[in-house]
Amino acid sequence: MKQTHIKVFATGGTIAGVAGSATRKDYRPGQIGIDDFVSEIAKIGLTARLEGQQFANIGSEDMGPELWARLHVAATEAMADDECAGIIITHGTDTAEETAFLLDQTLATTKPVVLVGAMRAADAVGSDGMRNFANAIRVAGDADAAGRGVLLVMSDRVFAARDARKAHTENVDAFKGYPRGPVGHVTPTSLEWFGPAWREGEAARYAFFKDMPKVSILYAYAGMSPDNVAQALGGEAKGLVLAGFGHGNAPRGIRDALARAVEQGVPVVRASRVDEGLVDREPEDDTANFVAARALNPARARILLQLLLANGITDPVRIQSEFSRR
Ligand code: SIN
Repeated sequence: MKQTHIKVFATGGTIAGVAGSATRKDYRPGQIGIDDFVSEIAKIGLTARLEGQQFANIGSEDMGPELWARLHVAATEAMADDECAGIIITHGTDTAEETAFLLDQTLATTKPVVLVGAMRAADAVGSDGMRNFANAIRVAGDADAAGRGVLLVMSDRVFAARDARKAHTENVDAFKGYPRGPVGHVTPTSLEWFGPAWREGEAARYAFFKDMPKVSILYAYAGMSPDNVAQALGGEAKGLVLAGFGHGNAPRGIRDALARAVEQGVPVVRASRVDEGLVDREPEDDTANFVAARALNPARARILLQLLLANGITDPVRIQSEFSRR
């Protein structure tokens, strides 16, 4: 029987991390090469043909435009390769949501693209890496995974990149989805989707650019002053995302300073520093021309605003309609 061919792009993270001891705290992410990883998986009896490629071996705190551009090129080529059924990207969990969301918005959704990570190093007691990786193989090899955008597999659950965020600093069950929870349940021997694909056959939503405009995040805190807005806009920021209180709120002086920034042509998106919930439009958004981030947290709202600006979408009304798109 012909084996499913899956390309594995390795970037590092805890899934490739080692501690050298079950009791040490200072484990090092990005230590195990993809070839070792692929040969380990062969031992557990998975039948897919895995073709590994080492893109980097870093902690994902160092992930950024250079590597994103290389991943984007490789994923685009893999999409066009008739032999390739799906793509797995091994990734640190810290910034996996940003990479997943960026690729989700800039790749066609015709083949499964799955990010996978781990919370425990490969040699830690109860390591989750191999199980997550085995689960990712099952998802990437499933034709029904196509048309669901980029996916993220952790702790037996499948999340859509549009919804997924890291929500715990230590637990293996580290990711949550909002507004949708997991879109599927996976184990090395089973895969169940909780609904139909929603982006079937869809082309890339936006063109990918390696060099995207600078967009800052302004984190709201009690007692902040309008100087904070000036600082956030320094260094030629072309857009700003507010990680606001509650429903995307900020002190009066901050909102006035942000409204002046919009008047000067810098789009402002109101997101929330709260973990969960929508930030919807409010009457002040109409007068100040702010954009409501809806379900996107500040990190993913920043990526979307960068993408929109890079694609020439600068009008707040247009920006709002893109943020409101599912
Ligand atoms: C990282 O993001 O590279 C370190 C943390 C992790 O992978 O869980």
